[in-house]
Amino acid sequence: MSNKKKILIVVGTRPEAIKMAPVILALRAEPWAEVTVLATAQHRQMLDQVMAAFAISTDIDLNLMRPNQSLTELTARILHGMDGVFEARQFDAVLVQGDTTTVMAVAMAAFYRGIPVGHVEAGLRTGDIRNPFPEEMNRVVAGRLSRWHFAPTTSAQQNLIREGYPAADVHVTGNTVIDALMAVASRELDMGVDIPVGKKLVLVTSHRRENFGEPLRGICLAVRDLVERHGDIHVLYPVHPNPNVVNTVNEILAGHPAITLSQPLDYLPFVAAMKRAHLILSDSGGVQEEAPALGKPVLVMRRETERPEAVTEGVVRLVGPDRDAIVRNASLLLTDDDAYAHMARGGSPYGDGQASRRIVAILREGLAA
Ligand code: UD1
Ligand code: UDP
Repeated sequence: MSNKKKILIVVGTRPEAIKMAPVILALRAEPWAEVTVLATAQHRQMLDQVMAAFAISTDIDLNLMRPNQSLTELTARILHGMDGVFEARQFDAVLVQGDTTTVMAVAMAAFYRGIPVGHVEAGLRTGDIRNPFPEEMNRVVAGRLSRWHFAPTTSAQQNLIREGYPAADVHVTGNTVIDALMAVASRELDMGVDIPVGKKLVLVTSHRRENFGEPLRGICLAVRDLVERHGDIHVLYPVHPNPNVVNTVNEILAGHPAITLSQPLDYLPFVAAMKRAHLILSDSGGVQEEAPALGKPVLVMRRETERPEAVTEGVVRLVGPDRDAIVRNASLLLTDDDAYAHMARGGSPYGDGQASRRIVAILREGLAA
């Protein structure tokens, strides 16, 4: 019988797959590890395109996504599906990434079965349990259920130490999002969308649940104000497929000649779009981490961020989902070269591209003990 360590790596959504891909590839190269990749498929299409981009095969697919799924029914389906997997197969460790419902429910199912959990991107906090919703609660719960905490930064590490986690269980590794980005960003990439030559590209993404309704309407109205005020820009807005997003965005922004609404871009085309962008407006977590590494200013359309490092460095600005604040801050960057240059100077506080290597080394030692 093989004495390899059996490690289950779980992905559910697009960002988990992007950030877990380098860990999967690094662990699969280790002779001591037997890796099983499980997709809850909380996302379907958006997950599949990432796995294809990194040429990662899935060993178990729970195929759980339903249209406009509720948090409770999704959580119940994940718990039930995972328990069946744990009933049928033995694992020495389970790895989860981030703060989605997949992460929280998989960590819970593993805990019920006594299987140690490694939490990648541990320790991010806003301190406000409703912001972002439900991610802040998901990561607090996942943290409580985890044996290894792979914190991307020292400030995430400090959050966990303050909450009473033993320092020996908390490891600063950098964020694997930079590993993924560094693996692809230097390639010639095509974003697959035509943008008028000579226009400054403003790239927009939004999907946060706490922004549904009025805040998202404010974001869309700000985007419309911006193209009406600045004739030298073109907006590309890959629209998240959540119906709560699609309906509002289409209602306010469809048909404008200076705005291209598209399906979500696949990861490589999206990296191409970030590289081509002059300015990024987003409420995404991952985009806040990637854009500074590419030297692109980001205005974050949220009230709080669990990623304060780039804000402190002055390359990301928190503007809230407020129409006036978005228009004012974006207009400044579109018209004031000095203000723009200050935010576009780049540099990433989130990692050096070696996070996966560190995670693998810590796991190897932890599982040998
Ligand atoms: C989820 C995560 C959020 C993460 C985001 C990344 C939770 C509660 N939310 O939000 O933390 O930032 O993913 O994008 O875990 N859909 C599709 N195809 C897809 C994906 C989604 O059609 O490939 C539609 C479906 O109707 C689905 C809905 O979007 O029911 C919502 O998906 P869900 O994963 O529940 O929430 P997200 O808003 O995507
Ligand atoms: N992304 C992508 N296509 C898009 C928008 C985003 O591939 O159309 C990538 C982006 O590069 C980042 C990740 O998706 O790595 C962020 O995912 P998302 O914003 O959905 O979730 P969050 O990071 O907020 O949890």
